[in-house]
Amino acid sequence: VACCRRADGARPDDLYPDRDLPPLSSALAALDAEAVAVSWDDPGLDWAGFDRVLISSTWDSVDRPAEYLVWARAASAVTTLVNPYPTLAWGLDKVYLRVLAGAGVAVIPTEWVAPGQAWSAHDLPDGEVVVKPAISAGGRATARYDAGDRVRIGAHVAALQQAGQTVLVQPYLPSVDAEGECDLAYLGGRYSHAVQKRPSLQLGEGIIEGQPWTRMAWDGVTSPDPDQRAVAEQAWAAVVDAVGTVPVYGRVDLVRGPGGPCVLEVELVDPYLSLDLVPGAAPALARAALRP
Ligand SMILES: Nc1ncnc2c1ncn2[C@@H]1O[C@H](COP(=O)(O)OP(=O)(O)O)[C@@H](O)[C@H]1O
Ligand SMILES: [Mg+2]
Repeated sequence: VACCRRADGARPDDLYPDRDLPPLSSALAALDAEAVAVSWDDPGLDWAGFDRVLISSTWDSVDRPAEYLVWARAASAVTTLVNPYPTLAWGLDKVYLRVLAGAGVAVIPTEWVAPGQAWSAHDLPDGEVVVKPAISAGGRATARYDAGDRVRIGAHVAALQQAGQTVLVQPYLPSVDAEGECDLAYLGGRYSHAVQKRPSLQLGEGIIEGQPWTRMAWDGVTSPDPDQRAVAEQAWAAVVDAVGTVPVYGRVDLVRGPGGPCVLEVELVDPYLSLDLVPGAAPALARAALRP
């Protein structure tokens, strides 16, 4: 089970806590599979020595996406990666939201700014604005602004471009303050369960740095409304179509826009799947992960 180090510079066997790991390990053991948690960037590991590698919490991939994809491609040549390499590569970069939008899925209205593209902050959406990089996790390098805060918005976009990122500029959806986001987990190709996640961006807080996944908070298991289920199903079908296989696991994160639920992101690399909150979820993932 591929995880990550507790912090930059920590020993590779000193792993950042992964709440999915204990229930997953038990479920794998119940199926006679021996699981060992390792850091994806442990230089001492021979990946060919594992029958398969389930990617669970490689969250620092977003710090070094190129290195991460080189690792994933090399590992996929000598063992079975879950999810497979092409799915990981597709899911790492939020430019896939354009593919989903092209397939008719409701996604948050987004202005895309490529690295090197001339852009100025005078044509912003009404109300508050979110600036975030296309490769991110846990709100890293993300911030929420007043639309009038053009100087700071422009500087943030430019800094992300400078770092080689494609930038997403979106309206801040106010429904997130009231109800947060609804994250729907798919296991073995099917909808399994959903959790409600609290809002994470504060106005005036500035750009989120460091290991932002440490700030993530889920309110617990929820029952999505029929319109949320419907949008998630559409998004999942579009993902399956785009990557050409059914991912073993994934998470469709939804927020409410003015016209109904829309996709915030689809997590195919290493989402927290709340296996510790939902009985039966870890066994379902273990069965799917071991399927030949
Ligand atoms: N357009 C938006 N409106 C409201 N909240 C947003 C918006 N974009 C991001 N957020 C908030 O920021 C968090 C992180 O953004 P997200 O798109 O999920 O990126 P990632 O989790 O990959 O860093 C979300 O969980 C949500 O709370
Ligand atoms: Mg997210």
